[in-house]
Amino acid sequence: MPGERTIGYFCLTLIAPMLLLATGARADQVTIAASKDNTIFEENAANSNGAGDYFFAGNNKDGFARRALVTFNVAGSIPAGSTINSVTLTLYMSRTRTQNQNVTVHKVLADWGEGTSNAGGEEGGGAAATTGDATWSHRFYSTTLWTTAGGQYNATASATTAVGNATQDYTWSSAAMATDVQNWLNSPSGNFGWIVLANETDTRVAKRFNSRTNPDATRRPRLTINFTPPSPTGACCATDGSCSIVLDPGGACSGTYQGSGTVCTPNPCPQPTGACCLPTPTASCTQVSQSSCTGSGGTFQGTSTSCSPNPCPVVLTPFLDPLPVPAVAQPVSGTAGGVASYRIATREIEQQLHSQLANPTRVWGFGDGPTGATYPGPTVLASKDQQVTVTWVNDIRDFTTGLLRTQHYLNVDTCPHGAMDQSVRVTFHLHGAHVAQDSDGYPTDTFLPGSEDVNVYPNHQLPATLWYHDHSLGITRLNVYMGLAGFYLLSDPVEQALNLPAGEFEIGLAIQDRTFNPDGSLKYPAMWDEMFLGDKILVNGKVWPYLNVKKGKYRFRMLNGCNSRTLRLALSNGASFQVIGEEGGLLPSPVTVTQITLGPGERADTVIDFAPYATGTEILLTNSAPAPFPGTPGVGVIPNVMKFVVQSQAGDTDPVPSTLRPLETLSENDASMHRVFELKKGPADACSPFFWSVVTTGTLNGTPIGDRYEDLTEFPELGTTEVWSFVNRSGLTHPMHMHLVMFQVLDRQAFEEQNGQIVPIGSRVPPPAHEAGWKDTVQVGPNEIVRVIARFEGYTGKFPYHCHILEHEDHEMMRQFQTVDCGNSVVEPGEECDDGDTSSGNGCASNCDIEDQLTLQGVAQGGTVQVVVDGVMVGVTTTPGQTAAQVVAALAAAILANPTLSGAGVLAGSIGNTLWTTGAIPDPAAITDAGLNEVIIPTLSTLGASILAGGLALAALRRLRRARS
Ligand code: C2O
Ligand code: CU
Ligand code: CU
Repeated sequence: MPGERTIGYFCLTLIAPMLLLATGARADQVTIAASKDNTIFEENAANSNGAGDYFFAGNNKDGFARRALVTFNVAGSIPAGSTINSVTLTLYMSRTRTQNQNVTVHKVLADWGEGTSNAGGEEGGGAAATTGDATWSHRFYSTTLWTTAGGQYNATASATTAVGNATQDYTWSSAAMATDVQNWLNSPSGNFGWIVLANETDTRVAKRFNSRTNPDATRRPRLTINFTPPSPTGACCATDGSCSIVLDPGGACSGTYQGSGTVCTPNPCPQPTGACCLPTPTASCTQVSQSSCTGSGGTFQGTSTSCSPNPCPVVLTPFLDPLPVPAVAQPVSGTAGGVASYRIATREIEQQLHSQLANPTRVWGFGDGPTGATYPGPTVLASKDQQVTVTWVNDIRDFTTGLLRTQHYLNVDTCPHGAMDQSVRVTFHLHGAHVAQDSDGYPTDTFLPGSEDVNVYPNHQLPATLWYHDHSLGITRLNVYMGLAGFYLLSDPVEQALNLPAGEFEIGLAIQDRTFNPDGSLKYPAMWDEMFLGDKILVNGKVWPYLNVKKGKYRFRMLNGCNSRTLRLALSNGASFQVIGEEGGLLPSPVTVTQITLGPGERADTVIDFAPYATGTEILLTNSAPAPFPGTPGVGVIPNVMKFVVQSQAGDTDPVPSTLRPLETLSENDASMHRVFELKKGPADACSPFFWSVVTTGTLNGTPIGDRYEDLTEFPELGTTEVWSFVNRSGLTHPMHMHLVMFQVLDRQAFEEQNGQIVPIGSRVPPPAHEAGWKDTVQVGPNEIVRVIARFEGYTGKFPYHCHILEHEDHEMMRQFQTVDCGNSVVEPGEECDDGDTSSGNGCASNCDIEDQLTLQGVAQGGTVQVVVDGVMVGVTTTPGQTAAQVVAALAAAILANPTLSGAGVLAGSIGNTLWTTGAIPDPAAITDAGLNEVIIPTLSTLGASILAGGLALAALRRLRRARS
């Protein structure tokens, strides 16, 4: 018997050289990987799983068989003419529901294929076969059938092994298998491998084995062949580190021939190397083989990957550093929390963002004094109706040279609109504030280092959790990423009287994600990308901090300050907490939740109670939102946010009042305008394969009339209320934000696209209680129509509305509306007229009622024209030859003569062939006179829901939008 030399048979290794000397015969052994494998499925004769991670044998839960096929390239792995001594097939069983089942291998008698089908998941059902796949009916789908469905193979098994339920390797070995392999070596064209069969009588007995494409290379199918070569041979090393035996002197070796007499066991071949990442704060990277990488606890990045540039993440220990709480900003005059003036400068600083980071990180922060700054900036406290003036100073200097920066710290991709150069432009927006355009951080009102800008915040609005941040056109993402953000908390005596947790028990949590270079510096892509997802979460400028809490209630004002990442926040012990407010201030009453999802820009005012816990209890604030969002559960999640550690001292144990602040609910009936916006990926432009856009379509499925920052298409009249519908035609959630106003979410509704048209499905669902208050940013999910309602008042001017994913906002997902004033005798954009006088009925009344109009044209041939005014049908009979103007005059007279309408004070009249009335005309006129028709006024087709063309041409309704006096 020839000797064997394997690691596993160490005793034989000792005797092998003696046999070698004695006989000259040199047995050798190779272990080879499968060259193809697949599964065929009885109940679905067109399914297979060619490229899957697994294959199957035995019956499924419904009693249908699976059979696996596997082939090994024997002839390519050992020299022709060899004698096969023994073979062992090893399969890793990774999933089953049963104990021991006999699993047999049989020699296959006809060739079969492996395509690219890939079932995914548990893979038990297979996937639709692709060209060339083996299936129950086909050897090669969809061209060549088996002569016997289910495969052609020897009825007699070559080997049988009982496979239990332990997930481990199982082996098959027999003389018959050695004969199979010898045949395949002698005539490779007859090598169709084995079919693997299991119990096909019972149900739910299938065994799942790892396939040759399983990600775990160590658990793929293997065939170990012990053989005696015909003449001198040697080992041949391929570049992938695999070894094969070839005839001496190695002419057939395509890699490196190891010399006569060399063998493959143990494998003498140099193993390929690649970058190996070790989990350290400095992102250690070494160039080693896969096995030595995993052996040292590293993560192998793949063969031939390199350490330069360093592909490894900086790995930091969570919860090492205490949570920083930003200081209260100090005014230069007045008092913090009241009427005050501040001088707040943005400066470049170095700040230790985690104690394990190699160096302090260069960031941009804010300082209220002549020097110094923090990231995030100090918290500005303010009170309702008490004006705050902030002189924002751009004092960004290169930290090393002390000179005003002429070049941004990050690379500015100058392609997106507004990002014209590398300069350090800033403009500061108080997010959620009701302010004039010139104090709103208008995106192009940027100023450079060495200059400043005064913003006035009257605080004439409900108290709320506001935040300030940079808003520079085209580079907001870069400036905010550098740190330019801070809290601005607005309060009033009503809120103060609620006895909510305050002082040390009231803390803002600005939550942001970042990525670091090994030296501790911030890492951000050089060129615009559609989103940025960091790999660490910082709260108030510390990576994964902890907070020691007393046994009582804390008011946490949570801000999602991330560039792109949505957060779904919860407590690790599953405890509930209260949401008492959102972006626009307090809810009518607290809402108890166990988690809350915040898109970038959104805030939640929350109360968490730590009174119930034992001293030393640790509770994590966790995040479970996939990224991108909504994405796939578990994908892209950074699970940790921060940790609370319960201390022994008692804290604030007073109850949270069950009513907080009454809510004025805006009614859809008061809306004088409905607008529709589609959120979608625009086509390729000069900067990128696409851009993100907000498209004004006016009506659902309407014609786009604007999709760029410079396209001004919305002109809300001050004093009016409007309903805006955001229709998300992209696969991502977009947090939509409007400046100037706070809005209320009316409802959400799903839609489908049918032939490119939006078709709403299901009902309109009102927002959950924690979202049913004043907001300024709302998540709009994919295939969702979100309707919000807002009252426009206070300031004329241009105000942005945009997606608050900063990468989107920077590349066209920002538009502007322009508020106009009725009755100021200036015809502003979007106004039909505005003569400033007080006479109604001239189509241009400044009494600021809503005036509807209807224009007819043509010459009557005889019939009727009917119109509904404030729900009352009014009609006239026409006579042949009447002009449209005469018919309109008759209609106006009929309205005035209607007792119901005149009793309600509805006015009406005509100007030429246009009827005007102070009543509402919700629908087009019903016209039976073939000579008359309504005039279409396309620019005013923005009436949304009220335009529903019946059998008539598109509605001719014209509604002058006027503020109610
Ligand atoms: Cu917080 Cu226009 O942004
Ligand atoms: Cu804003
Ligand atoms: Cu977006």
